[in-house]
Parts: sequence; C-alpha cells; structure tokens
Amino acid sequence: MSRQQADALVIFGITGDLVHRKIFPSLYALERRGALNVPVVGIARQSMTIDELLVHARDGIEQFGDGPIDDTVFNRLAERLQYVVGDYADLDSFHRLRKAIGDAKHPLHYLAVPPSLFPLVTANIAAGGCADGASVVVEKPFGRNLDSALALNAALHAVFPEERIYRIDHYLGKEALLNLTYFRFGNRFLEPIWNREHVRSVQITMAEDFGVEGRGGFYDEAGAIRDVIQNHMLQMVALLAMDPPASADDESMRDAKVRVLRSIQAVDPTNLVRGQYVGFLDEDGVKPDSQTETYAAIRFHINSWRWAGVPFLVRVGKHMPVTATEVLVDLKRPPQTLFGDADGSERNYFRFQFKPFTTISIGARAKKPGEEMTGEQIEMIALHQEPEEMSAYERLIEDAMLGQAGLFARVDEVESAWQIIDPALAADTDVHMYQPGSWGPAEADHLMADCGAWHNPLSPVGMIATPSR
Ligand code: BG6
Repeated sequence: MSRQQADALVIFGITGDLVHRKIFPSLYALERRGALNVPVVGIARQSMTIDELLVHARDGIEQFGDGPIDDTVFNRLAERLQYVVGDYADLDSFHRLRKAIGDAKHPLHYLAVPPSLFPLVTANIAAGGCADGASVVVEKPFGRNLDSALALNAALHAVFPEERIYRIDHYLGKEALLNLTYFRFGNRFLEPIWNREHVRSVQITMAEDFGVEGRGGFYDEAGAIRDVIQNHMLQMVALLAMDPPASADDESMRDAKVRVLRSIQAVDPTNLVRGQYVGFLDEDGVKPDSQTETYAAIRFHINSWRWAGVPFLVRVGKHMPVTATEVLVDLKRPPQTLFGDADGSERNYFRFQFKPFTTISIGARAKKPGEEMTGEQIEMIALHQEPEEMSAYERLIEDAMLGQAGLFARVDEVESAWQIIDPALAADTDVHMYQPGSWGPAEADHLMADCGAWHNPLSPVGMIATPSR
C-alpha cells in the first residue's frame, strides 16, 4: 500500500488540551494559507454542541495562535468542522463517524488521546469501517519502555501498515532541526571534521525555566527521560551523528537515523544522573513519595568508526534558569601550541541554538591587535533567525495530510531508541534534589569530568580546565 493524500481529517480527543493548544492553532494557520482543503471531523466523549466546540476552538487559537483572529479565516475553518459525540468503546460511535466522513476514501485519523486508548480506538476504527484507505497519526509517548512500545506498535500494525502510520515527535517539525540537517549535508566543509578525529565531545542541553504546568499526573508517570530524552533528544543526537543519507527522500533519511541509533550503546546506569526539583512533590497529581526525575543527564556512546570515544552528553530539566535548547560540538585543540599564549580558554566549536532563537556560531581564536602574537577567543555568528514562522505542528499536520512521512518517527527508530534507554530506566537510580532556578544536581558534573564542564545555554562558552590536544 502506498501513501495517500488525505481527503478528510478526523481528530479523536478534539475537546482535549493538545487540540486546544496545538492542533486548533495549526488548523487555523493552515486554513489561513489555503492549505486545509478537507472536511475536519472531531470526535470525543464530551457532550457539546458544535457551537460550543467552536467557542473552545476560538479560545485555543486566540491563546496559543500567532496573532489576532481573522473572522473570514475562522469562519472558513468553522464551516469544515463537524463534531461527533461518541464513546470510543461503543462501535455505534464509529458508525456515526463513518457517516460524518461521507465520501472520503483516505481519511487521516489523528489520535489526540492517551496512548492507553490507542489499541481500543484503532480496533474500532477498523470494526466501524473507517480504516480502509485510511492513515493514522499518533502522539508520543510511544510506550513506557521497549516491551510496551512493541505491544503498541503491534496494535497499530494490526490495523494500519507502517506506511500509513505517522508518529509525531514535534521536534522533527521544528525549523531549527530541519536547518541542522540542511547545514550538515548542504555544505562540504563540515563533513571532513565531523568525526572522532576532530570532535572532542558533543553536548545538548534542553532547559526549561518552568515546572510541570498543571501536568503533574502525566509527568509523574513519565519523568524527564520518557518525556523528552527517549524521543526529542535522541532524535537530535541522531541528526547530529548520522552518516550522510543516500538521498533526501523520506526513507533514506530515516534509514540513516536508524543506522546511527542502532550503534548507540544501551545506557549504562552509571552514565545517568537523575534529579528532581525541590517542590515537585507538592505539585497537583504528583505522588507524595515520587521518585520521578524532572532532570536527567546522560552520557551516550556511539560504537561506530565515526564516533567511537566521543561522548554525546545530553542534559534536560524543568525549573532551570532559562528556557533554551542548545548544542555545543566541541572540537579538539590544535596539535601544537605555536603561539605560547594557551591558557586553557582556547576553544574551537560549533554552537547551535534551537530555542529561543535559531543560531549557528563558530568559536575560534584570533590575534589580538598589537605587537604581540597573542590571541583571544572569538565567536562568529554565522546565522541568527528569530523564532520560526510555521509551528512544528502546522508543518507536521500538513505533511501527514500530504502523505509525507520523513518528519515522523518510524517504527524502528522508536524501538531502537527504547533499546538505548531501557536499561537506564530499569535501574531505578537515585534521584538527587536540586533547587528550582539552578542548573540541576552537581552529581551530573562527573559525567563531564574528562571533557570540561557543562555549557549552559545562552551563556558564553566557558574555559576548559584541562584542554586535551
Ligand atoms: C513536550 C514535553 O514533548 O515537549 C514537554 O512533553 C516539553 O514537557 C515540550 O515542555 C518542549 O517542547 P518545546 O517545543 O516547547 O521545546
């Protein structure tokens, strides 16, 4: 079966939070630029009239969209929207849904519902006659560990072939990540140095200066590793570390990512530090004795000719000093100290900021003006872009409707990522407390001991105590 352009969009869980915050604003943006040309059918258990749903939609677009609402655009969106009230366990709901879809032959079903409902909903999509020619979009988390991910994928595959499944990892729809892929493979100068001969370490920090924002119950079940490392961060590692793909088509890109994910060693628990911010236990929905991590730092190792011996250090956390995501690719030092002014501060690096801006900078040495042959550290900003115009969700919904799968996680990517993470999760390591507004527990410093110190996003790249050549 090949991929198809969708001729209807069905949204399960249309009254929920994800749709309110992300999907309605994206549909509105698609409508505004004329890219939404299909009926949209929402289904949920909540009894609501279509007018009440439209008020809810408008509120989401106003709060989370990108500017004032244009009534003409909103009315166009309203006209294509239908609502089916239905219980997902009741087959009759799916018969009514089938009627609402009308003549559409290739509906795209978007499951904006908790993953525990995926098996039931997909089975009833099939039993209710809504699966023929259809595709499905699912949201993370894709399981809690490798076993549950395998079971989830089996439930999806019982109804939809892999080519018709779009697993959303919204990081893949971000402009800054697309730019990373472009920058890596659209230029020649990086490739010769993008390996263990020249790179000393790679660091990624995803910091958020807020807590669980009313999602205490969900977050307490998930924790930082499942919430953002197994998916977003490993996708970033894969994009940074993968070999050049055979071509830019969807499957070649995904093949290249899978190859590198398969060569990442399963995480040894000694390479993991977990933290929890002081106050997490008081959040609504969090168990009073919770050992869930709101911070995690992991040292990954990639067993490949390109990367053997180069640590990939990933650090994520809630309630950190800033909200920013940044990558630092630290290069080795020149093999000889020619100018005698080395003091440990000299560094060559590539720095990629993903949030709040998209920037690419290069750290280098340059001569200080004057008689002496002494240098200073400079940073050349090669690119600086303001936050992206198109939201990740808008891009991904459009791609799924067009049948373009390259920016979605394929089954083998998800399963490889769980294989890497599983042993670390199973080890149930200690959780170290940290103060909100700090950079997390000091215990994470030892993961970095042989390659300097953690680089904090939005700060100047600091000195290295023990430069290695
Ligand atoms: C989500 C996580 O997937 O990503 C959240 O569940 C996190 O906890 C969010 O805050 C971060 O996404 P972004 O796009 O704001 O960096």
